[in-house]
Amino acid sequence: MEAAVPTIETAAAHPAPLNRDDIPGWFFRLDRAAFAHLLCAQSAAGVTGDILELGSYLGRSAVLLGDHLRPGERLTVCDLFDSDAGDADNAAEMAMSYRKTLTRSAFEANYLAFHTELPEIVQAPTSVLADGRIPAGSCRFVHVDASHLYEHVAGDIAVARAALGEHGLVALDDYRSEHTPGVSAAVWEAVFTGGLRPVLLTPMKFYGTWGDAAAAREVLLGRDWRADGYTVDEDTIAGTRVLRLNYQVKAPVQQSTPRRLALELLPPVATRATRRVLRTLRERRAVRPVQGA
Ligand SMILES: C[S@@+](CC[C@H](N)C(=O)[O-])C[C@H]1O[C@@H](n2cnc3c(N)ncnc32)[C@H](O)[C@@H]1O
Repeated sequence: MEAAVPTIETAAAHPAPLNRDDIPGWFFRLDRAAFAHLLCAQSAAGVTGDILELGSYLGRSAVLLGDHLRPGERLTVCDLFDSDAGDADNAAEMAMSYRKTLTRSAFEANYLAFHTELPEIVQAPTSVLADGRIPAGSCRFVHVDASHLYEHVAGDIAVARAALGEHGLVALDDYRSEHTPGVSAAVWEAVFTGGLRPVLLTPMKFYGTWGDAAAAREVLLGRDWRADGYTVDEDTIAGTRVLRLNYQVKAPVQQSTPRRLALELLPPVATRATRRVLRTLRERRAVRPVQGA
């Protein structure tokens, strides 16, 4: 276990985030709700086990995973943080998306803003986890969100499979993004040749299990997602049923007549300034992840 208290230097370099949304990252409301629902349901059903995250960045998802640890359970996170990648393609990915903003000490400061103890930290390529340091069958939940390159993701899925126990669930990020075809390839390969059963699809993540997918789907249907602003659909993929959750789309806001008239009648300089202020206010209200991922 790492030191639980940040040094004065670390605390000064990384002011503590006030709430979880202040941590930069790519972990959004719908997946936060899905993680919380699935992890709570496991705990309520007496399913115990450790939690593993491959790819933590500045801790946005790790902090939530830490919220769900029960006595005796352990969270392990694996990330390169400030270390070099093991191959050129992974190094390019790191340089493009994470290097400017990511340090291990920033992750630690963010995590410790919400928890009293750090998780087990493996600062290394996720491929090191194939050495069996995560005991087989020891985990109940694995979040795979590290490299987007096919070779890495295929290895990460193999690590998740070995780590998960009977009722374990895996969440695989970016399985359908345009810029991450390697993730899609690895995920669907695991489905069609590796026995991974789809449970839930969201815009960002694929959730699956090598155990009882129907039971996991029932657990998800135990919540009224529609009442909370989400859409719920069911699909069948090659004979396997899968749920889809997404955000309900709100009707576009009509510009009020007085506001439209004001913008039309004001002199151009004042109109531009007014539009700038309105845009800034809109952006402040929106979730603003850092670029990349
Ligand atoms: C998309 S970010 C993780 C986002 C985080 N889970 C969140 O929700 O905000 C991907 C992370 O994977 C890490 N990473 C990339 N390639 C890796 C590798 N081969 N081994 C370990 N970590 C890696 C990067 O350092 C980065 O922190």
